[in-house]
Amino acid sequence: MMAIDLRGKPIAIAGASSGIGKATALACAAAGMPVALGARRMDKLRAVAQDIERMGGTALALELDVVGDESCRAFIEQAEQQLGPLHAVFANAGFGFEMPVHDTGDAEMREIFEVNFFGTLRIARPAIERFLERRSGHVLICSSSIGKMAVPGYGAYCATKAAQWHIGRAMRHELRPLGIHVSTVHPIGTSTEFFEEARRRSGGGSLVENTPKAFIQPPERVARAIVACLRRPRTEVWTSLTARLGMGLLSTFPRVADTVLGRFAQLQDRINRVESQTKKV
Ligand SMILES: NC(=O)c1ccc[n+]([C@@H]2O[C@H](COP(=O)([O-])OP(=O)(O)OC[C@H]3O[C@@H](n4cnc5c(N)ncnc54)[C@H](OP(=O)(O)O)[C@@H]3O)[C@@H](O)[C@H]2O)c1
Repeated sequence: MMAIDLRGKPIAIAGASSGIGKATALACAAAGMPVALGARRMDKLRAVAQDIERMGGTALALELDVVGDESCRAFIEQAEQQLGPLHAVFANAGFGFEMPVHDTGDAEMREIFEVNFFGTLRIARPAIERFLERRSGHVLICSSSIGKMAVPGYGAYCATKAAQWHIGRAMRHELRPLGIHVSTVHPIGTSTEFFEEARRRSGGGSLVENTPKAFIQPPERVARAIVACLRRPRTEVWTSLTARLGMGLLSTFPRVADTVLGRFAQLQDRINRVESQTKKV
């Protein structure tokens, strides 16, 4: 398949004010795509738009809260009105927190599903309506490597990421005959604001401390892989072969997975104890 020339083909990115979304916006702009940037923090979005304009690209900063249906519809509508027919949409807005599932209340569970899972649907639907009219388009969904295997403390987050992966897979088959690509993105640990936000929401957190350095990457690494996927659409975007094979292996052998996760949980426990002792001191 010939690589798609992305120059002049607009993309709308939800959650473009920091981390993976921001890096993807810059990488898409460098590839010649006009970019609609959506998030709640307008000051951050405007700064990304200015960076893109300084590079000679085109960017539009639009306030977006993926929890609101109207906000998502307006985001896609304004992106098309001002940048032209969208070539792609990236449902990337999301957050996580660290909390055992039995301590997670319905309100917290609903909130994380509202943003990560329903937010994905709310962003994708208005774009897909337009893609269907043109019988072309590309939907990208930011799941995670741990959407394939839940880790202790992140059960709620992993459930949203697994749900995104599942709907992405179903949509891919439903939409492919209609000319639309659907890809899911599965980053490993990425150095973004994600962990600060998770700490803020959880009053602590040890996922980063427990993640081997080899499994922490810069957001630009994910952004490059996303642009490659826009050029040559593929099923899933991975940036670590080890994680990809590891997740496959662990889901085939759940007892091995339990042993690995058991060690992880013990380590997490130890770190939490040290953290709480340090706080007391
Ligand atoms: N970092 C990792 O290790 C990692 C690994 C795998 C997958 N991921 C996924 O990657 C995606 C991006 O996260 P990140 O790591 O880049 O973290 P990040 O730097 O915290 O970025 C999160 C983005 O989501 C936006 N957002 C959050 N809630 C929103 C809402 N209600 N409406 C609109 N935008 C909202 C934030 O913007 P505002 O706050 O300005 O609204 C921000 O732009 C997430 O889906 C995350 O689950 C991250």
